[in-house]
Amino acid sequence: MDPYEIFDDQLLKEKIREELNRQNGILLAHNYQRAEIQEIADFGGDSLGLSQEAASTEAEVIVFCGVHFMAETAAILSPQKTVLLPRREAGCPMADMVDVEGLLRIKEEHPDAAVVCYVNTSAAVKAESDICCTSANAVRVVNSLEGANKIIFIPDKNLGMYVSRFTDKEVVLWEGFCPTHHRLSAGEVKEVLGEHPQARFVAHPECRPEVLELADHICSTSGIYKYAGEVDARELVIGTEMGVLYRLQLENRDKRFYRSSNDMICPNMKLITLQDVLYSLLHRVHAITVPEEIRVRAEKAIDGMLAVPRER
Ligand code: 13P
Ligand code: SF4
Repeated sequence: MDPYEIFDDQLLKEKIREELNRQNGILLAHNYQRAEIQEIADFGGDSLGLSQEAASTEAEVIVFCGVHFMAETAAILSPQKTVLLPRREAGCPMADMVDVEGLLRIKEEHPDAAVVCYVNTSAAVKAESDICCTSANAVRVVNSLEGANKIIFIPDKNLGMYVSRFTDKEVVLWEGFCPTHHRLSAGEVKEVLGEHPQARFVAHPECRPEVLELADHICSTSGIYKYAGEVDARELVIGTEMGVLYRLQLENRDKRFYRSSNDMICPNMKLITLQDVLYSLLHRVHAITVPEEIRVRAEKAIDGMLAVPRER
C-alpha cells in the first residue's frame, strides 16, 4: 500500500511544500502534468524552459515532474544538483524510438549530413548529435547550420516534415512519432471545428501533416499559452495533450477551449501523483544522473541550440 494514501490532497500539498522548503528544493512541472501537480509547482513550462529553470535556480534539489528525457536534460545542464524524477518509468515512447546504434547507422548512410536531435531523446543520443532543438526553435536551429545542406532529423518525422517546409536543406527523416499526437486525425479536428465554427485551431508540430494543414497556428506548448492570450478569437480548439488546458483556462477566463479529441492524453505524463512527489522528496528517489563522458557531449548539443539567436 502507498504509505501516503491516507493523506488527502490538501495535506499532501502542504507536506510537499514543507519538505521543499526544508530541503532547499523546487518543483518543476511540465505543461502536460496533472492539474494538482501544476498547481503546487514553483515553475511550469515546456521541456526547454524547465531545463533552463533547473540550470539557473539556486535550489539544491529539483523535483522534476515530467518524463525521463526532461529530467535528464536538467541533469545534463546542472550536474551538481540533485534532480529527482518521482516515477522512474515515466518515459517518452518517442524518445525511445531512436537509440545510439540506429543513429550511428543512419549517420554512416549519410556521412555528409548534420544531425539535429529533438530534445525528446536520451542523453546518449544527444551526445552523438551535432545540435539539439525543441518544437519552439526547430526551424531556426536547422537554418542556423551554415554549410550543412543535408540534415538528419531525429526522431519525430512529423516535426521533421514540418521543419522541411521552412528550409532549403534536404531533411532525412527518422520514422519516429509521438503516439499521443500522431493519433489525432484530420477527421476528428474537422468534426470539432464543425461544432465550433468561430474557433481557431492551434496545434503542436508533433501532429500529422494533414492535421497541421487545418491549423491557424502551429507552436510548442509554451507557444500555445502565448497565442491563446494574444489572439482575438474567444474560442480555441487545442491540438495537443490536454494537460495544457489547466493553465489555459486559468489564464484566459473570458475564452473557451475545446479538446481536439478526448484521446489526447500522454499516459506517461500522467503517472506522477502527489503521493509520488512526497515519497520522492522524503526518500530522494529517483535521482537522475548522466555519466560524465556522455553528459559533456550531450551538453554541447544543447549549448549549440541555446546559442541560436531567438526570434524578435
Ligand atoms: P514541449 O517541448 O513543447 O514542452 O513538448 C514536449 C513534448 O513532449 C510534446 O509532446
Ligand atoms: Fe513523449 Fe508524446 Fe508524451 Fe510528449 S506527449 S512526452 S512526445 S509521448
